[in-house]
Amino acid sequence: MHVLITGGSSGIGKATAFAYAETGARVTITYNMGADRAAEVVERIRAGGGQAAAVHLDLEDHATIAPAVAAAGPVDALVANAVRWGTILPGGLAFKDVPASEWAAALHANVTGNALLVQQVLPGMRRRGFGRIVFVSSGIAEEGVPGPGVYGTAKMALHGMARALAWEAGRDGILVNVAVAGLTVTDAARPIPQEALDLLAARTPSRRLSTAGDMAALVLFLGSAANRNLTGEIVRDGSNAGRSAHAL
Ligand SMILES: NC(=O)c1ccc[n+]([C@@H]2O[C@H](COP(=O)([O-])OP(=O)(O)OC[C@H]3O[C@@H](n4cnc5c(N)ncnc54)[C@H](OP(=O)(O)O)[C@@H]3O)[C@@H](O)[C@H]2O)c1
Repeated sequence: MHVLITGGSSGIGKATAFAYAETGARVTITYNMGADRAAEVVERIRAGGGQAAAVHLDLEDHATIAPAVAAAGPVDALVANAVRWGTILPGGLAFKDVPASEWAAALHANVTGNALLVQQVLPGMRRRGFGRIVFVSSGIAEEGVPGPGVYGTAKMALHGMARALAWEAGRDGILVNVAVAGLTVTDAARPIPQEALDLLAARTPSRRLSTAGDMAALVLFLGSAANRNLTGEIVRDGSNAGRSAHAL
């Protein structure tokens, strides 16, 4: 099994790289600005006896996508995890204030970029009669949160993409799903005050927020041969807060 994980230089992508490596899979991660962080991930996997490589891919620069996939070589599984955060960081913009340029940039990277990425891996998966594709999405897409409207809209597009692809590629042994993260405790979550994290945890069924490792385990299942015939599904991690009035 060879897996290509975009955005494997940190957070959920990095944890997913380690999770695949532990199963003996060959792992290729992509990075954008974090070449050093990606090299550390590769080094750690190799030090543990695994096979890993890192390639540059910038979802904003579509010209980098095909060369990155070519450098990775034939892949059995694609984890489309990388994200251009845009105006969600540091706190989002009110809907009325989002300029057209931000809409264009966010959709260009997070929607079209991922579509072009899938186009690069699909023919090989078809030829080999096996493929797993996992899009990493966010509870924000379905829940709606004031502020990150552009981010949520772009993530929701991935749900539509997965549904369409599941039907189009299913007969070739390719299963396509979405793993929906709630607030996940990664470095990106560090600026969030503990009080706010506790509040969100209290609104989940299991009363705890997931770690990157928890998300990695979900992605690994969806994106491996252990997933025999689950496809076109939007699978929500338990860290998604406030889906039910019971949580109030
Ligand atoms: N953490 C959460 O609470 C949470 C919640 C819901 C959904 N998610 C989703 O989970 C996924 C991973 O999130 P994370 O928290 O692990 O984020 P993260 O730690 O910020 O990692 C983001 C990754 O995306 C890469 N990236 C950034 N801009 C890119 C671009 N223009 N082109 C290609 N790659 C780019 C980064 O690469 P470099 O560092 O090398 O630049 C990094 O590897 C994302 O899809 C995110 O939307 C996360």
